[in-house]
Amino acid sequence: MESELLRLKQEAGEALDTVKDSAGLEAFRIQYLGRKGGLLTGVMRQLKSVAPEDRPRLGQLANEIKQGVELRFEEMKTQLGGGMQSAAAGATDYSLPGRYLPFGKLHPVTQVMEEICSIFEGLGFAVAEGPDVESDYYNFEALNIPPHHPARDMHDTFYVTDSILLRTHTSPMQARIMENQEPPLRYIAPGKVYRCDSDITHTPMFHQVEGFLVDKDVSFADLKGVLTAFTHKMFERDLALRFRPSFFPFTEPSAEVDIACVICGGSGCRVCKRTGWLEILGSGLIDPEVLKMVGYDPDVYSGFAFGLGVERIAMLKYGIDDIRLYYENDLRFLSQF
Ligand code: FA5
Repeated sequence: MESELLRLKQEAGEALDTVKDSAGLEAFRIQYLGRKGGLLTGVMRQLKSVAPEDRPRLGQLANEIKQGVELRFEEMKTQLGGGMQSAAAGATDYSLPGRYLPFGKLHPVTQVMEEICSIFEGLGFAVAEGPDVESDYYNFEALNIPPHHPARDMHDTFYVTDSILLRTHTSPMQARIMENQEPPLRYIAPGKVYRCDSDITHTPMFHQVEGFLVDKDVSFADLKGVLTAFTHKMFERDLALRFRPSFFPFTEPSAEVDIACVICGGSGCRVCKRTGWLEILGSGLIDPEVLKMVGYDPDVYSGFAFGLGVERIAMLKYGIDDIRLYYENDLRFLSQF
């Protein structure tokens, strides 16, 4: 076997010296290195039948020879295939158009999130981000939702432990920011939130943008003005807005804001549940109890807050009638944005 290997090494070297073009090189590859019937490949296969005590030495020799031949083969391939030589031989057509490499894009929800943030930044709001894994204190208690308060049922919470959870809204950022700073404050807090909820307008993970402003003499009219300015800019037209009385333990008075359904134009469809309106956010004047908990004097300061559902806004902006499409990762859907 050893002499057979050395003979093949010599023979392959001489054969490579005589190769002049790509066709000759290909014939060499098939004769010596071909997977089926290649001479070197065949000798390598015979190693199985060699006496066990000779196998390591012969195996090493066979590998060295094969690697040496492969290396020379690759060098020849580069020499023969590269540059103008092969162009002249017709191997490469330099006049062909280049290959199109598609660019990746931001997810439509991320695009809408960035647009929302930039509109509020234009209105003078600063941006802050907080943790997805939140404590019960910030998610509920600091927002005037003590243990056993019935409002906790509205949130369909994913608990990690009894006191740690996946935040159900971005409102904890109100308390986190207010307890560290003095008014006047004007912040938005974008991020992911989680609820055990799924249908055509609800997903278990979705995005919210919290917004709040605290100063002296802040009124509901300021809230309406900011949200109307935002909606008109976001949808690039003067859409009708509806402030519907609602309840949140951390705002008083509270309102949910609906906009005229842009899918059906207000006539009623499955997305707006035949009402002609689609809820996009919750809002209100910050409850004096929340201000007291962070050490602000509610007789001096007042504020408003709101929490926008980003996917809902993206649905309306792009006319999508099922929120779950955003998370199915179907490139035919995602590449349209
Ligand atoms: C809240 O989460 C309050 N934190 C909002 C708030 C902030 C009120 C500040 C007052 C002051 P709500 O549960 O209604 O409220 O959710 C707000 C928005 O998130 C909804 O209007 C809706 O657009 C969106 N939303 C709620 N649940 C889901 C879900 N499962 N999937 C997608 N979007 C959702």
